[in-house]
Amino acid sequence: MFAMAPIRPAVRIPAAPRPIGWTGQGKASAEMFAARLERWWPDLVEPLTAVYGDRGLTLATELVTLAEDAYRQRSDRLHARDLQRMLHPDWLQEPTMVGYAAYTERFAGDLRGVAERIPYLADLGVTYLHLMPLLKPREGDNDGGYAVADYRSVRPDLGTTADLEALAEQLHDAGMSLVLDLVLNHVAREHDWAQRARAGESAYLDYFYTYPDRDIPDAYERTLPEVFPDFAPGNFTWDEDLQAWVWTTFNEFQWDVNWSNPAVVAEYASIILNLANRGVDVLRLDAIAFIWKRMGTDCQGEPEVHLITQALRALTRIACPAVAFKAEAIVAPSKLLAYFGRGALAGKVSDLAYHNSLMVQIWSMLASGKVSLAVQALRGLPAKPSTATWLTYLRCHDDIGWAIMDDDAAAVGLHGWSHRRFLANWYAGAHPGSRARGLVFQHNAETGDMRTSGSAASLLGLDEHTAADDVALALAALRMAHALVLGWGGIPVIWSGDELAQPNDPNWASEPAHEEDNRWAHRPRLDWDRATTRHDPASVAGRAFADLTDLIRARSHLPHLHASIETRVDDVDDPGVLVTVRDHPVGRFVGVYNVTAQWRPWLGHRVHGLGMAEAVDWLTDSPLAWGGDGHVWLPPYGVLWLTDDRH
Ligand code: GLC
Repeated sequence: MFAMAPIRPAVRIPAAPRPIGWTGQGKASAEMFAARLERWWPDLVEPLTAVYGDRGLTLATELVTLAEDAYRQRSDRLHARDLQRMLHPDWLQEPTMVGYAAYTERFAGDLRGVAERIPYLADLGVTYLHLMPLLKPREGDNDGGYAVADYRSVRPDLGTTADLEALAEQLHDAGMSLVLDLVLNHVAREHDWAQRARAGESAYLDYFYTYPDRDIPDAYERTLPEVFPDFAPGNFTWDEDLQAWVWTTFNEFQWDVNWSNPAVVAEYASIILNLANRGVDVLRLDAIAFIWKRMGTDCQGEPEVHLITQALRALTRIACPAVAFKAEAIVAPSKLLAYFGRGALAGKVSDLAYHNSLMVQIWSMLASGKVSLAVQALRGLPAKPSTATWLTYLRCHDDIGWAIMDDDAAAVGLHGWSHRRFLANWYAGAHPGSRARGLVFQHNAETGDMRTSGSAASLLGLDEHTAADDVALALAALRMAHALVLGWGGIPVIWSGDELAQPNDPNWASEPAHEEDNRWAHRPRLDWDRATTRHDPASVAGRAFADLTDLIRARSHLPHLHASIETRVDDVDDPGVLVTVRDHPVGRFVGVYNVTAQWRPWLGHRVHGLGMAEAVDWLTDSPLAWGGDGHVWLPPYGVLWLTDDRH
């Protein structure tokens, strides 16, 4: 059904000649540093003064000293990378950007193993590699590495900091950027700062939020939600050594750090600069929403969060402009744009943010076979700054929280809670007609909320037991879902295993410390036997891999998908067909997605109205399939990627 015609090759531009007879003298220069400092100083000092008052200027000055040291120590290679990216500030927005995210050990054993797998990533078309937390965590349960015990060393079983630097170089040579997590809301209870606090050092007690009794914790709890109500209820943990309640938003071994203390800002600035000098290109700001606490609120996304992020971003622009920030803010759509910066902060905060709403709506469309809610929700998101980039994704290491707004649901005649409940049941395979094989995550008995774990393939009901006809449909649905992720604009990030339609790990609970957290079901070890079949069109993995690489290849030829441009959603005619439109100066791009398992029409007057009547599909190289009724007909889960300039 989806035979791929070859896409026209891009015109290859010969490499520029290298200057000859010129020897570099080292790429750092006092002038360059001074020029960048002058340019970005206001962005550093203003937000720090806004947050820390009189102490802001002293802090900003301290950060400049750190930046200057880091700048001097930065390698020539990385200085060259800084310069390249200053000349190419939209590098993250190019349609050639394709991400892949994986746990180092589950993907390739260790860091050297990852280096050996670079050809596999290149085969897929990856240019951006997010390796899940790999800095030294606490022993035992560490929330997949999100409980960091030492930010300056690598998890010993994965390698050393020298291995990390070597991998960064190898990735850079292969045209890939390295993305690492920066966990900045909390540290492991075993981190040196926490140990010193427990030993009674007052300077380090100020790094955390501790309370001798329940008065203040109870007052906060009145408005605080629970992140892990199931295995880590509440937001505070009693510590015997301190004889105090410690703020622990996530697990009890993850101590929230006190960002109202300027010393904490300087610590993290130094950590950022250190990672930058090891060759990290993008820092994923983990749980960034939570770093500022304010009584009477949900303590997420307070204005100080964005001001502090802006200051840290300015710091990298001065010391290491090759480095960008990605906000991990899984928050209500109305709050999300602030992570890119709004008003005076526009474009000055994070460069990238997860498009959680798109991800949720893709799964919602697939379960319901209807697009009206997605249209409502996606139209409601305000425009982002043109310099900012969405990170689009179908699955990641986390569960899916069913972030459907009650108002959006009501606007299309649905009941928010019931639709969320339907989605959780559907993907757990507990709804009539569903073949999904996901798992319920964090059932909150109080609110009735349920979240979902599961790999893309398992959520689509695809594994070795699936009947042949259902396999074809599930693969078509997977292709359609990936097409939406790749055709939206932004960096699409593929979660490891999904490129091979790898199902859930049936033995997820058998690993020590994983038994209570079923997110491990969709964090399988990459099945390298399966990967060897990726070019075999008769295998499921081969079909999934070919569908994805065809999409990636087509995308790389479409300047229309540059991430500076917003996607708008066209009016709905058929409830099972989503139509997206991107107006780029080079021309119009229209994406058409049948989210159902039936043939569906795209109405003729719309096709004409959008100027696409003569269009050829980039994915199949075929003209539109006009029916005798004057409409274009889409096969089950069919996709069209059309431009108005390709005849
Ligand atoms: C982020 C991570 C999640 C982790 C949490 C605490 O949300 O994605 O996996 O549990 O932060 O660090």
